[in-house]
Amino acid sequence: MSDRKLAVVILAAGKGTRMKSDLPKVLHPVAGRPMLQHVQASVAELAPAETVVVVASDMAAVEAAAAPSRCAVQSQPLGTGHAVAAAQQALQPLMDAAAVDVLVVFGDTPLLTAATLNRMVEARARPEAAEIYGLAFRPADPAQYGRIILDDDGRIEKIVEFADADSAQRRIGLCNAGIVIADGQRLFELLGRLGSDNAQGEYYLTDIFALARQDGRPAGVVECPVEEMLGVNSRADLALVEAVMQDRLRRRAMAEGATLIDPATVWLSADTRLGRDVTIHPSVFIGPRVSIGDGVEIRSFSHLEGAEVGAGAVLGPFARLRPGAEIGENAHVGNFVEIKNAQLSAGAKANHPSYLGDASVGPGANIGAGTITCNYDGFAKHRTAIGEGAFIGSNTALVAPVDVGSGAVVGAGSTIVRDVPEDAIAVARAVQQNNEGQAARSRARTQAEKDRQKG
Ligand code: UD1
Ligand code: CA
Repeated sequence: MSDRKLAVVILAAGKGTRMKSDLPKVLHPVAGRPMLQHVQASVAELAPAETVVVVASDMAAVEAAAAPSRCAVQSQPLGTGHAVAAAQQALQPLMDAAAVDVLVVFGDTPLLTAATLNRMVEARARPEAAEIYGLAFRPADPAQYGRIILDDDGRIEKIVEFADADSAQRRIGLCNAGIVIADGQRLFELLGRLGSDNAQGEYYLTDIFALARQDGRPAGVVECPVEEMLGVNSRADLALVEAVMQDRLRRRAMAEGATLIDPATVWLSADTRLGRDVTIHPSVFIGPRVSIGDGVEIRSFSHLEGAEVGAGAVLGPFARLRPGAEIGENAHVGNFVEIKNAQLSAGAKANHPSYLGDASVGPGANIGAGTITCNYDGFAKHRTAIGEGAFIGSNTALVAPVDVGSGAVVGAGSTIVRDVPEDAIAVARAVQQNNEGQAARSRARTQAEKDRQKG
């Protein structure tokens, strides 16, 4: 049994210039969640004793997104080795108290899985383990990645950055994923010996491998699937990573018992929760913070975010659920219905174009076509409460704050500005007048006028 502790350093201080963005690179979302938080989620599965995110000095937004992980500031972007060294101070108390393995990952590789990171941890836990392991992969096009040069024993002789590699080295297919696990004391000792005499004038994390070998204590290598190492350097990379992530999320949804009739057209978020026997029709968007109960049917072109949907409900086509929408069991939300910060209780129906905002609709109530909750008076939002079994006639404006009691009926075309008592019928519209024969008389007059002008 090893009583070694694990600490993780996530590098996120790079500017991400190629994104051409005001948003720091690691905050660009993938499946509705900042890239950095995908990496943090995989890291969290290892239950490390400490996680430190290395940020640049002008990155308050990254620090906020990184919470509750601690942050260390790299004052200048002098390279990946320099960035890891910036985390030393934060890790020192832990390293003084125990033997620590430090795992270094990049904040811009959101597809990295906990399974791969675990293989790095396990490599270090073996009795004959090397002090350091690097993570390798073999992409179809090795492009600009650093190349890993192995010795005859399969240990790492050195890692050569693309910019520093000669043409023979550039033909090597084994590439550096960038991720490293190492004994903490040893890692920081080697980092202290780095120089910056290379093509980019940077302190390369990768140079620790040649130093380790010079000391006669070479590092080992772990290989991982190519897909996990797709890093994001540009918007095109971001789209590629998004596509892989969506594919993963759809597969997971189907594995857990949802039917996606045309998976490629369903967009899911990293935190989407789907019950069993959910059916999602083609072309549906599910944004962040959505939870869908068992047996729910979501028809085409529905757009959901921040919503909770109870078992057996039917949504869409063209349903719009905005944050705070709570749809009860077996409720129906039809086409062009917009629901925001509102509860539609069990069995209630809003089947036709309507807006329900800041409202509660009781069980079994029926919302007629064209019902609008007028929730905003230009200054503040107000609530509408509709009781159990109430019936709201078509084209009703409910001017909030207003209550419609349970069992009440509101006549079509009403503008409701006062509360409606339980079981009452409320009608609030101009009284209809029928003027007998007036239409015929008016037509005759018009015709006579036309005839006179001609004649
Ligand atoms: C790095 C590796 C390369 C590997 C590739 C895999 C080094 C020297 N090179 O190259 O061998 O094939 O990743 O994708 O390690 N960062 C900082 N501070 C810095 C510089 C970088 O925090 O001063 C962070 C970045 O935010 C990023 C990560 O480190 O998250 C990697 O930096 P990047 O410049 O993208 O390295 P690569 O050139 O891709
Ligand atoms: Ca990179």
